[in-house]
Amino acid sequence: MSSPLSRRQLGPYSVSAIGLGCMSLSPAYSNPPSEADANRILLEAFDLGVTHFDSAALYGLGHNETLLGKDFLKKHRQHITLISKGGVGPADGKRVIDNRPESLRRDIESSLKRLQTDVIDLYYLHRWDKKVPIEDAIGTLSDFIKEGKVRALGMSEVSAQTLRKGHATYPISALQTEYSLWSRNPEIALLQTCRELGISFVAFSPLARGFLGQSILDIDQFAEKDLRRAMPRFEVGNFQKNIPFYEALKQVARDNDCTLAQLALAWLLHQGSDILVIPGTSQIAHLRENVGADHVRLSAQTLAKIEDILSTVPVFGSRYNPVNQSEVDTEQFAV
Ligand SMILES: NC(=O)c1ccc[n+]([C@@H]2O[C@H](COP(=O)([O-])OP(=O)(O)OC[C@H]3O[C@@H](n4cnc5c(N)ncnc54)[C@H](OP(=O)(O)O)[C@@H]3O)[C@@H](O)[C@H]2O)c1
Repeated sequence: MSSPLSRRQLGPYSVSAIGLGCMSLSPAYSNPPSEADANRILLEAFDLGVTHFDSAALYGLGHNETLLGKDFLKKHRQHITLISKGGVGPADGKRVIDNRPESLRRDIESSLKRLQTDVIDLYYLHRWDKKVPIEDAIGTLSDFIKEGKVRALGMSEVSAQTLRKGHATYPISALQTEYSLWSRNPEIALLQTCRELGISFVAFSPLARGFLGQSILDIDQFAEKDLRRAMPRFEVGNFQKNIPFYEALKQVARDNDCTLAQLALAWLLHQGSDILVIPGTSQIAHLRENVGADHVRLSAQTLAKIEDILSTVPVFGSRYNPVNQSEVDTEQFAV
């Protein structure tokens, strides 16, 4: 290790501002890597200076944590900030949102076993199960802190109001939600609430799930189980209508001698020193490119140009389909 990557505060930890979202190392999008390639990506990320590794019980229905625990963490557990999530457990091989105490306990015990570690540095409630009061769900997670299984707590995809309630129950160190050039919902209330409460903000899907790459995605080539097949912005019709948005931003990237992915990450990092990003990838070349965004500086003029595009070139399709939208608790833009 390592080139000096910028560091930011993630709750009590100083970590690389650009982390690694590990979901793409398991089946999620198309073409997940082999186990050997996934390990190479983890090791390369570490060598590049990444210290913020984001996993979840859900990713690959346990596969992701098992992958991390098998080899990578044996070498580097002490040198990184290990993050996972529970509350959406793989139960009987299925994705189930369940925040009951016995289910959260099953999740944490299974995660620790798969990760082959005694403690997780930051543990998020992955989704709030609205059948369980948020105070009870966070209360259960705070028991894991007392038991030494978890060091800090986070929440994911919740509204500002729910975040406040969770934080009043037990101090929340980090909030993780989708934030990118095409998903700016956190600007309604969440970012401000995080700042007020001193909670770190982690932007997930910062590359718009691959939309903001160097070439236009071919949605016909998505694997049958690629998560994007269920996302309205990638549907035939909406997707084509989103190309002008892509092209306009691509031109800004060209003008700034960086790639579109780097522009997307740098833009997020320029939104505040309390924001961290966790791009995911299954390719070493993309990993290097993404980490390279650490050195991209955007002028006030460039930021204004981007703002102009975001406010004038529309994005078609909602972030989630109605089923997935019903599972989250975030504020919506009024349209
Ligand atoms: N809390 C939650 O509910 C939640 C939800 C979703 C995600 N997350 C977290 O956030 C992380 C990132 O989100 P994400 O994986 O959904 O979306 P993302 O990081 O926006 O995009 C990942 C996609 O972008 C592609 N990509 C990555 N770097 C690229 C580059 N430089 N050029 C072109 N394409 C590139 C990847 O393809 P290749 O593999 O080909 O590079 C992959 O398909 C996840 O790994 C996970 O840790 C959390």
